[in-house]
Amino acid sequence: MIERINHLKEKMKAFDISNSETLENYRLKFLSKKGELTELFDSFKLITGAEKKYIGQQLNSVRIEIETKFNEAKEKFSSFKKSSHPVTDLSLPVSAFELGSSHPITNVKNEIIKIFESIGFNVAKGPEIEDDWHNFSALNFPENHPARDMQDTFFIDSDSSEKYALRTHTSSVQVRLMENSIPPIRSLMPGRVFRNEAVSARSNCFFHQIEGLYIDEAVSFSDLKQTLYYFVSQFFGEREIRFRPSYFPFTEPSAEMDIYLGTSTEQDYRLTKGTGWLEILGCGMVDPNVLINCKIDPEKFTGYAFGMGIDRITMLKYGIKDIRQMFENDSRFLEQFI
Ligand code: DAH
Repeated sequence: MIERINHLKEKMKAFDISNSETLENYRLKFLSKKGELTELFDSFKLITGAEKKYIGQQLNSVRIEIETKFNEAKEKFSSFKKSSHPVTDLSLPVSAFELGSSHPITNVKNEIIKIFESIGFNVAKGPEIEDDWHNFSALNFPENHPARDMQDTFFIDSDSSEKYALRTHTSSVQVRLMENSIPPIRSLMPGRVFRNEAVSARSNCFFHQIEGLYIDEAVSFSDLKQTLYYFVSQFFGEREIRFRPSYFPFTEPSAEMDIYLGTSTEQDYRLTKGTGWLEILGCGMVDPNVLINCKIDPEKFTGYAFGMGIDRITMLKYGIKDIRQMFENDSRFLEQFI
């Protein structure tokens, strides 16, 4: 028996484990149920007498040696598999490197900002969650104005007595700016706004606006017209513009500005409903009540304001027909604007 044990020990020592395949052969040969070690243990069961104890010790020690060699090799080859240095074939061709791009709305926003920065406007920002004062009351919205209606505004549940909502326009930032600065103020306020409207190809429940505000001594409507004319000439090229009287609670007088696209292409005809004119923005002279609400003396200062939808201008610029495409994050759409 001792001879068989020694023989097994020698065979085990001579067995060369060089990879996971030979490791498996080793396991089958020595450690499996039909392996040579099991065979010896079976024979051991039949032994009786004084030598049983000694043989048992020898058998156990060879078992430990066989197992230790197996475990060490297993560690070596499995850690080789898990290695953090995968074998890389450096001769393979490199796959194309995908670059992200800025969103078309961001491009248009930046383009508009650049034009106004060139004539002395700076950029200001305000919060998307607004209180009633900044979004409505300070802007001269009467208490019963339909824009405060639940249908247009996303109100926010809150425990406090103050009512909060997602801002419905960037005009709220005008108020914050006027409250916190001394004229002259010449700022542009881009941002996202929210309205509880049915989503369709032409309108979305959130969109982007850019607001302009200029407050100083002796600012007049002709300054407003000249500034907007300059903007149109830079952004759209030389085009006719016209101002139509309109109404906004926070400006007096108020106007809407149209640019002339003509009707020669089918798209221009459709966009302008056959008139050739497309409305681009709302504007006006800041109502003295709004100045008073923001602690600016209307006897000393006057100013103009304007607001335009960036999404609409983006759709116009790139010929995008459905506003929803701009918010789906579909890379097939976005990569067209790189
Ligand atoms: N806040 C208006 C809107 O969302 C747009 C607007 C009109 C802004 C006239 C102005 C303005 O600053 O003077 O429809």
